[in-house]
Amino acid sequence: MALLELKNLHVALEDGTEIVRGVDLAIDAGETHAVMGPNGSGKSTLAYALMGHPAYEITDGQILLDGEDVTELEADERAQRGLFLAFQYPHAIPGVTVTSFLRSAINAVRKARNGGEDDPVPVKEFRTELLGAMERLKVPRELAQRYLNDGFSGGEKKRVEILQMAMLKPRVAVLDETDSGLDIDALKVVAGGVKELVGPEMGALVITHYQRILDYIEPDFVHVFVNGRIVKEGGPELAHELEARGYEQFEEVLA
Ligand SMILES: Nc1ncnc2c1ncn2[C@@H]1O[C@H](COP(=O)(O)OP(=O)(O)O)[C@@H](O)[C@H]1O
Ligand SMILES: [Mg+2]
Repeated sequence: MALLELKNLHVALEDGTEIVRGVDLAIDAGETHAVMGPNGSGKSTLAYALMGHPAYEITDGQILLDGEDVTELEADERAQRGLFLAFQYPHAIPGVTVTSFLRSAINAVRKARNGGEDDPVPVKEFRTELLGAMERLKVPRELAQRYLNDGFSGGEKKRVEILQMAMLKPRVAVLDETDSGLDIDALKVVAGGVKELVGPEMGALVITHYQRILDYIEPDFVHVFVNGRIVKEGGPELAHELEARGYEQFEEVLA
């Protein structure tokens, strides 16, 4: 049984327009999958639907997490079960520091795993883990006390998202277009964080338009996504083929 399984997933916008048109995908622990597709193909729609964003309706198919059908669950319930999404455009939360945000997120997951009873992470344990993760991921110390994403550069936002991932220890991490606008240093931090965390406890889905991030992350499987469907699948070599030949070869499927 795969860690995350999508079965014939269809997703529509609020006005009923179908964007994702039947996706089958299975991700196991220890695996990194890349979904690559042109702009407007529905990659972010797929990511939002996985996380349970209310603006994206799953009209057919199923999402299974560790064998449990989570298709009808709310976003927070999916997060508590170990789904994590790094957004293409992270939102700022003025008034909430990175540290307090991380502590709340961790405590919400701990509470859910403790049968709904509060089980706050001990202060010292949290601090030790946070400082260690910041060091490893090269997140500047001063970011911890700043308001989440408020005035952060693109690179800082991404580092803090990878920090969230490291602290939350999800079962499946979905990274949507994490590479857009990143300099090489930030890209290496993101890739390093993914590589460090993917293992017996975690699998990853890396969604991207460009092959660039895949030079650092090295996916096990590549899925080409055009017009709401997976049109070709293969190993890492497929990413290089796309880099050389582009998505035009699949354009006949652009109905
Ligand atoms: N919230 C939304 N409201 C209206 N249209 C949307 C919304 N989200 C996505 N779309 C449309 O769905 C299509 C796919 O978009 P998106 O999933 O962002 O593609 P990608 O991430 O591959 O670039 C686009 O035509 C986009 O305009
Ligand atoms: Mg997108």
